[in-house]
Amino acid sequence: MTTEAQTLTLADIDLNDGLLFEQGLSHQAFKLLRKEDPISWTPPTQDVKGHWNLVKYEDVLFVSRHPEIFSSEKGITEYEPIDESEALLAAQGNGKMIITMDPPRHVKMRRLVNKGFTPRAVALWEPKIRETTNILLDRIAKKGESDFVLDVACNIPLAVICQMLGVPEKDWELMFALTNKVLGSGDPEYQTDVPEDQRGTPEAARITGNMGTMQMFGYFAQALMQRKTARTEDIISLLIDSEVDGEKLTDEDILWFCFLLILAGNETTRNAMSGGLLALCEHPDQKKKLLNDMSLIDSAVEEILRWVSPVTHMARVAKEDTAIRHQPIKAGERVVMWYPSVNRDEDVFPNADVFDITRTPNDHLAFGIGEHFCLGAGFARLELKVLFQELFRRFPDIDLAGPPQRLRSTFIGGIKHLPVKFTPEK
Ligand code: HEM
Repeated sequence: MTTEAQTLTLADIDLNDGLLFEQGLSHQAFKLLRKEDPISWTPPTQDVKGHWNLVKYEDVLFVSRHPEIFSSEKGITEYEPIDESEALLAAQGNGKMIITMDPPRHVKMRRLVNKGFTPRAVALWEPKIRETTNILLDRIAKKGESDFVLDVACNIPLAVICQMLGVPEKDWELMFALTNKVLGSGDPEYQTDVPEDQRGTPEAARITGNMGTMQMFGYFAQALMQRKTARTEDIISLLIDSEVDGEKLTDEDILWFCFLLILAGNETTRNAMSGGLLALCEHPDQKKKLLNDMSLIDSAVEEILRWVSPVTHMARVAKEDTAIRHQPIKAGERVVMWYPSVNRDEDVFPNADVFDITRTPNDHLAFGIGEHFCLGAGFARLELKVLFQELFRRFPDIDLAGPPQRLRSTFIGGIKHLPVKFTPEK
């Protein structure tokens, strides 16, 4: 691994090394790959399946739009050990969560929860999201400083998805800790189940991810039992009474749904928020532009999503022999779609490395595209919009008070801590 001051060469690039992202070197790596090796092969290791890395927009579009060729069912990440006995528990959800299902079951299962995610349903949440946002801002208002991630960004998406799942407020902190373990398993800060001197290894990551997954399942199994005796107004109760092809969902189906929603609805949006504020503070001209004209908020949110691309990648497995950009891909081989790279593809985005809150068109793929297009995109957009409206209304001079601390992960482009300062409210 190189340091930030060094210039990367193709030989230095290991997209499976979380340090590349933690050290902020990933865009340098992606740029080089787009230019010199747009479909590179990462050989298998003990912890990672061998895979082709897709870094060009056109290639990711092709794969996402052809689920009949590229399956989600065999796993959407490459983090699956060759030795199945050491498998990550989360990998056992392959084929059992909508995000790891192929048609036709995928569509039928997605339809069960879809009505909670329509533009109309999302819009009904706006007053609640604004209220939650302001309660959080109230808590920091008089301090004039904050860790924006812990005080604000993590709490808004967490509050929304927990309420959708009927998780009571007393357990939100636990959900925060468990999602960190599952999605931030590679980061030593979250490897609290592992002795300190053994943190930072692939083994520590596997243990951390598995502990998080088991604890999450234990939690939702209890919630499921409670809902079975007394239904409440939430997704778990809705799923208990749902059927697909005339059959009720199994407990396992419902638990995987909960697992997916709590992870997907939480960590991603948190990082779009903190990454968005970081981008605005690092580009004061753009921040000023937005402050002067808040009607630019919608395009600013899209640019934040393009710029941050919080989900770094999703994988697919080829069902048949095929080819991408003249590169033969054999049946059973895995392709990994790198969203931060495609969202800065110079062939699609003019001045791709420029953060421009007025960018139009802005057809970024931060939410993926095709059958698996993000179910929660409407929520994420609304939460981001409300956050920046309220934040800049109350703290227009908010700025960085120190460097961000990035997450060591190749799956989530995350920020763990973001110190900020602002003029306190009287
Ligand atoms: C799917 C990104 C927020 C729930 C996806 C996918 C991406 C993504 C890239 C596509 C996966 C694929 O093609 O394999 C994001 C980003 C978010 C965000 C960047 C925030 C900025 C949310 C929220 C929720 C959510 C807030 C729930 C409330 C889901 C679900 C899927 C999904 C359930 C699976 C959809 C399916 O397979 O049909 N998301 N997401 N996401 N997302 Fe999001």
